[in-house]
Amino acid sequence: MSNKKVLLVDDDPNILSAYRRLLRKKFHLVTAESGAEGIAILEKQGPFAVVVTDFRMPGMNGVEFLSAARQISPDSIRIMLSGQADMQVTINAINEGKVSYFLTKPCPSQHLIRTLMEAVEQYEVITSERVKLEGENLHKAIHGTVQAIVSMIERRDPYTAYHQERVKRLAGAIAGEMGLSGEQAEILVLAASIHDLGKIYVPAEILTKPGHITDLERALIETHPQVGYDILKTIEFPGPVSQIVQQHHERLNGSGYPLHLSGSQILIEARILGVADVVESLASHRPYRPAFTIDEALAEIRKNRGILYDPEVVDACLRVFQKGFTFD
Ligand SMILES: [Fe+2]
Ligand SMILES: [Fe+2]
Repeated sequence: MSNKKVLLVDDDPNILSAYRRLLRKKFHLVTAESGAEGIAILEKQGPFAVVVTDFRMPGMNGVEFLSAARQISPDSIRIMLSGQADMQVTINAINEGKVSYFLTKPCPSQHLIRTLMEAVEQYEVITSERVKLEGENLHKAIHGTVQAIVSMIERRDPYTAYHQERVKRLAGAIAGEMGLSGEQAEILVLAASIHDLGKIYVPAEILTKPGHITDLERALIETHPQVGYDILKTIEFPGPVSQIVQQHHERLNGSGYPLHLSGSQILIEARILGVADVVESLASHRPYRPAFTIDEALAEIRKNRGILYDPEVVDACLRVFQKGFTFD
């Protein structure tokens, strides 16, 4: 018998009773009107498969509640309900509360139910298969975390989300062409799907600014690999996801950023991601210039083969396109 126990915390009793009506037939629902009450319930009535909380509550806020809940019940899947603009909340929730899902308030009923069902499933995977956290199980377990980050970026910056999706596909194809191990390729693809996460700190006006950008604006944009690293390093990934993100703008000859690494100091996954990123960026329309054709984009990496870009990666990328890879 699966555990469908869901704890829902919200300081608004009307919202709680609406949730009870909606969810009581599908889940074993317990509600609390404050973080403190939620903690007491977790201690006495656990284990819960899923813990859902509002962010804004008097006393303990949602992030504080989730980090306390995590101490008591580390396996419970944690879900945060927050307003669209609460970007800092989202980041804190990832870092401190280790949430798996974000839902935007007000959340449509069907979406809430579907998310809770997924979370219950995820809980079952984690608790039943924890002996071997590898292969498929591992990926199910971290899927929620990565998905939470992807949907956060989609909300804030759809253009970056679209870019990341395309870079992810190309990076995966290059990794396959180079014969990276399945595990290494999966970690790379995971990193590629969220590699520009740090851009959520850069004001949208700068990211979408047409024409020339100032030195200050450039410096701000160039913080994004480090910011992404700082956010991701606290999440326990099964591989160097945070380092790959941190190094995706490093260049072979040391001219990249933020660490000015060179040659083999740069992870091979980051060298692949760097090339996929440049090709996709050039081939896409940017606010300050029209798109290059794929041939023009490939000419750029060919020109800097062995200078900025790893020669083997460039060759593999060219072969991938020769074999018919397209972004669309
Ligand atoms: Fe980037
Ligand atoms: Fe990028």
